[in-house]
Amino acid sequence: MKAWPFPKLIAHRGGGTLAPENTLAAMRMGHALGYQAVEFDVKLSADGVAILMHDPVLGRTSTGSGEVCRLPYDELARQDAGLWHSPQFAGERIPRLTEVAAWLLAHGMRANVEIKPCPGRDIETGHLVGNLCRDLWLGHKVQPLVSSFSVAALTAARRVAPDLSLGLLVKDFEPEHVSVLESLGCASLNCHHAQLKPAMVDALHDRGYRVMVYTVNCVDRASELAVWGVDSLFTDSLSEMKSAFPDWLFV
Ligand code: G3P
Ligand code: MG
Repeated sequence: MKAWPFPKLIAHRGGGTLAPENTLAAMRMGHALGYQAVEFDVKLSADGVAILMHDPVLGRTSTGSGEVCRLPYDELARQDAGLWHSPQFAGERIPRLTEVAAWLLAHGMRANVEIKPCPGRDIETGHLVGNLCRDLWLGHKVQPLVSSFSVAALTAARRVAPDLSLGLLVKDFEPEHVSVLESLGCASLNCHHAQLKPAMVDALHDRGYRVMVYTVNCVDRASELAVWGVDSLFTDSLSEMKSAFPDWLFV
């Protein structure tokens, strides 16, 4: 297996539950707590700007309403993406991938960019995010891992960025996923931790793939998964995990 540039613990959506997800404040939170790596979700505005947002619609994590794919970036940028979380984050914005990448690189942070296309925009999103990740991290020692549940998005990213490190996201790992991992030249299989069995970790490692699991917020479960040999875990419980496993923050 190739060297793995990620620590055992990765801050999910930037700062887990401690900051508004997928914002620069979230990245600052992960960094302030000593995390070296963050995961975040990327989709496109109506006018093709790559932004950080989990849901296909505004509302849960921002002011405003409507489908992200129908709103131009200018309108998305006017929304408050922090107030829903707590008053201290009022005024936080929906950030662009370009500004988040610049911030992470300036602070020595490692990134897992999850391509989370709006419905029907898989190829377009994979193409653009693949291009951006290739260019934004050009010349940097540690490259991002680009992952997605969408095989179409990963395929489009691979087409424009042959050297990009890719991760296939799935809920349940099935034997047929191996051919997708092979054809895309993936570095990792990223699956829900509840579905994983120790034999799956061994089988994936034997084939040269790293195993990442989401989203692990229980310390005992994290210990068990580590014993099985899981390479990295995404967590929303940044403080609890850090207290239990301080060494897991570092590569
Ligand atoms: O990338 C791991 C995890 O973030 C996938 O699920 O819904 O939290 O984006 P979700
Ligand atoms: Mg995600």
